[in-house]
Amino acid sequence: MAGTPALDTSTESPQCILLAGAHGGVGAALAQTLCARFPQSTFLTISRHDIPRLSPTHQHLKIELENPSSVSAVQDWLFRSPLPNWVVNCCGTLHWQDHRPEKSLRECDDRAMLRSFSINALTHLHLAQALDPLLKRRSPLTWASLSAKVGSIEDNHLGGWYSYRMSKAALNMLIRNLSIEWGRKIDSCKVVAIHPGTTDTPLSKPFQANLTEGKLFSTELSASRIADVIQNLAEDDTGRLLFWDGSPIPW
Ligand SMILES: NC(=O)c1ccc[n+]([C@@H]2O[C@H](COP(=O)([O-])OP(=O)(O)OC[C@H]3O[C@@H](n4cnc5c(N)ncnc54)[C@H](OP(=O)(O)O)[C@@H]3O)[C@@H](O)[C@H]2O)c1
Repeated sequence: MAGTPALDTSTESPQCILLAGAHGGVGAALAQTLCARFPQSTFLTISRHDIPRLSPTHQHLKIELENPSSVSAVQDWLFRSPLPNWVVNCCGTLHWQDHRPEKSLRECDDRAMLRSFSINALTHLHLAQALDPLLKRRSPLTWASLSAKVGSIEDNHLGGWYSYRMSKAALNMLIRNLSIEWGRKIDSCKVVAIHPGTTDTPLSKPFQANLTEGKLFSTELSASRIADVIQNLAEDDTGRLLFWDGSPIPW
């Protein structure tokens, strides 16, 4: 009915969930958690890999989100699917075969910088670009990108890790921008970045030795906390970077 506020069903019980990066450590655990928590929801996943079928309604797209051609391919796929009202993007990288996080300027090189930016920021931009033309003013949307506390400029007192920090800061700015653009376009819209905390995945493996006890979380625990944060988002959380307990981290 014209003039009636849209019912915000986006957070409590999503009808359709889209999860990108579903093969990663946190991504795979989050897929299991969300499927178990919302068995009635249609489940859409994106990954560079094949993944096992998660539910009777599960649809999977194998694609590389880093590639700009993924925008139109994901969009074509989404046109044929229900409109997701929860989107969670887990894509990110810290190190790879010939790249370790930089301790100083001397260790920075353009190729690693650009690859970090591509995986940590552009995979999220491309997914947003694919979804954007499908969004409807009266269909609530909740979007969560997994980011990292080290992407906070204000919180940076240690330095180092140039490519990861810079690319996560870029992702954080993307999230802030998206919250503004989609906030104007959709009646009920929550767009956030979430820091999962140090989680036992290939991404954190080389850096786990010096952690104090209790500071390394299992993927199951992190996934459950991330799902809790998304489920409990308030309207005024939009545009924020949040801890795994839902508290805000300064940008
Ligand atoms: N683990 C931690 O301690 C920690 C701490 C803070 C923040 N985070 C953030 O949490 C997110 C998930 O990380 P994780 O720990 O689950 O890491 P992971 O196990 O290494 O997973 C990497 C993730 O990035 C995706 N990805 C997409 N394109 C990629 C590419 N070209 N190269 C490498 N990965 C690509 C993977 O998706 P597919 O394989 O499905 O394609 C997967 O979801 C990341 O954004 C990370 O920055 C993690």
